[in-house]
Parts: sequence; C-alpha cells; structure tokens
Amino acid sequence: MARPLQTILDAVLDGVVVVDDTGRVELLNAEACRILETSVAHAETEQVEALAGPDHPVASVTRKVLESARSAIADEVPIRRRFSEDLIADLAVAPLPESDGGGAVIVLRDRTIQNSLRDASSQREKLVSYGHIAAGIAHEVKNPLSGIRGAAELLEGRADDDRARRTAGLIVREVDRITALVDELMVFAKGEVLDPQLLNLHQVLDGVIELAAVDRLAEKVRIDRVYDPSIPELLADGNRLTQIFLNLTRNALQALSSEGDGGLLTVRTRVSLDHRIPATDGQMLPAVIVEFQDDGPGISPENLERLATPFFTTKSDGTGLGLAVARHWVSQHHGTLDVKSVLGEGTTVRVSLPLKRPTPGSGGTPGNTRSESEKS
Ligand SMILES: Nc1ncnc2c1ncn2[C@@H]1O[C@H](COP(=O)(O)OP(=O)(O)OP(=O)(O)O)[C@@H](O)[C@H]1O
Ligand SMILES: [Mg+2]
Repeated sequence: MARPLQTILDAVLDGVVVVDDTGRVELLNAEACRILETSVAHAETEQVEALAGPDHPVASVTRKVLESARSAIADEVPIRRRFSEDLIADLAVAPLPESDGGGAVIVLRDRTIQNSLRDASSQREKLVSYGHIAAGIAHEVKNPLSGIRGAAELLEGRADDDRARRTAGLIVREVDRITALVDELMVFAKGEVLDPQLLNLHQVLDGVIELAAVDRLAEKVRIDRVYDPSIPELLADGNRLTQIFLNLTRNALQALSSEGDGGLLTVRTRVSLDHRIPATDGQMLPAVIVEFQDDGPGISPENLERLATPFFTTKSDGTGLGLAVARHWVSQHHGTLDVKSVLGEGTTVRVSLPLKRPTPGSGGTPGNTRSESEKS
C-alpha cells in the first residue's frame, strides 16, 4: 500500500518545502510550517518569497538554484518570526530533475535545538571541572580549618583578658564562615541525586516569591507574575527548584535595590516547543521556560562573560556562588540557564527545564522517577 506523501513528509524531522520551476510552493511538511509559522493551506500555491520574505535566503537561494539547476546551502540563517521566538536554521536547496518538470526542494534544519544541546553540554562540562576543584579545595582547606577552630576555641576559654577572648571568638566565627563557604562549594563535587516529584511549578514560584517578598530588599520592588496556566505538573525536585529560583530572585532584588529606587521584577513562565530538551531516554521533551526579568542596572559585557565562574561577585557581601549553584541544579535537571543583560536596561535570567511527565504506568511515583534519574 502506497502511503500518502504528506504523511511521510510530516514525519521528517527537517522542514521540507517543494517548489515548482516558477518558485510556487507545491508541498510543505509540518516542520516547515512550524519553522516558518505558516500552514499548508496558507502557503501552498504562494511564491517562495511569501515564506520568509522576498530578501530572505530561503527565497534568494531558491531562486538561484532554480536558475542554475545547481544545489546550494546556507548555514545559520536567521528566521524572524511573529508569534514565537526567532530561530537559526540551516538551509539546503536542491534542484529537481528537468525531466520531471524542474523546481526545487528546500530543506530547513532548526539549529536552536542543536545549539541549546551544545550549550547544555558545555555548561555540564564546566560544572564537572568545578566539582574537581571543589573537591580539592575541600580536602586541603577543611582539615586545617577544624584544627584552627579547635585551637581558637581553646584560647577563647583560657584567655584572661577580654580583648584576647574577643579576638579568639572572631577567629572561630570567621573559620565557620569559610567552612560554610566550602560546604556550599561542595554541591558541585558531591553529585547528589535529585528527588523528583510531580509538582506544580507555579506553586514553587509562589513560595519563593512569598519568601523573597518579606525581605527588606523587596520593599520598593514590584513583582509581577506572568504565568502560563497551561503548564501541567512536571517531574522535578521541588527543594532544588526553590533554591534555584530563590538565588535568581535574590539577585534581581539586590540589583533592583542597588540604586535605591526599586523597580520591577517580572517572573514569567511558558512552554516552548522550540527549546526541546533530550530526556535521559533520548526522547525530545518540550521545555518549560521560567524567566526572571528585572529592569535594574544590567550587567556589563565584560562581567557577563565572567558570570559562569564560581566566586565572581560585584557585591561586597556576595560569595559569587548563587548563579553557579543555580546553574548546577538546573543542569542536574538536564536544563539550561542563560543570562541576557543590557547595561542600563536590565537583566533576564532564563531557566529552561524539560517538561518531564510520569511515564504511563509508572504513576509518577517518586520511587520510579528516582531510579530513572540515577541511571543518568
Ligand atoms: N539580576 C541581576 N542584575 C545585575 N547583576 C546581576 C544579576 N544577577 C547576577 N548579577 C551579577 O552576577 C554576580 C554573580 O551573582 P551570584 O548570584 O553568583 O553571586 P552574588 O549574588 O554576588 O553572591 P551570592 O549569590 O553568593 O550572595 C553578582 O555579583 C552580580 O554582579
Ligand atoms: Mg546571588
């Protein structure tokens, strides 16, 4: 039985468009419709120029191929879109044989997914190397610290003048501070396993915002929530998500109050099919995007490059671990964290998490899901 051509084309992962020798669209598949934000009914019989604009490489490269009857490719062409985020796609156009009436077949491959995979794996590699450094530091620093603390405590108890006692107490407190810092750094080294549960993302965010709102920092800040109500419950570790979102909210509040006059923090959620993320079984899952957008002072391009490094801070009382720890837990969820910022305009931190749902039959029990994440 011959299968309908459209069914086959729709199963192809790349966007495919077929045009006749005059550049009129004859066929297009589902992925091409998604990339170009059109429908079969709308695009068929249109000229190729109608797909992405008359000056766009999709049209100009196709015209060249129709004239020369030689195939052509263009890498990383930007596709501007009206309803969803812009994309980067690779374009390949091949002529169809003259004997069959000519024309051309256009193939569009969405690079966004590949690029986000590359970013995620380089983020993961970095975090692994921080883990090695952290383990080294912990080993070399923590042992002597406990000796110093013990000695200082002894001195504190034996000192007979007040000043010596206070000084020894100061040593104990500072040692505790360094120990806490080293412990915090150890999150990169321990390889702790997540405890995913089926949870409501917005409840987690509400909890974080409530917690952050009682902070003095939040006094002059307005926090707007723009939630996508269609986001279903997803499998994730609620405590870790809280930690991620709290670190990002704190950064935004600190940035907004650094100039004294407050500002606006928008917490936005949505589902994105353009940022599909591979699950442990290789299946591509849609991504849930959580954005923290502030209209604070922004980050200079030099500092933006250094954000991925643990301990980078511009705050007198900062440890510079907030973002690195957030990134670590996002990465453990197989997600990504990106920071976009314009100096003088504000900062947007975007967390993409795979929309992981219980597999049918597993019932979403924590036991099942835990064993799944341990495999990864
Ligand atoms: N929303 C933001 N607006 C402006 N700058 C930011 C924002 N978020 C982070 N930064 C910059 O990134 C740096 C690193 O942030 P990170 O959270 O890692 O550490 P920190 O906030 O300095 O210290 P800690 O989180 O440990 O208290 C900050 O010092 C700040 O310069
Ligand atoms: Mg911080």
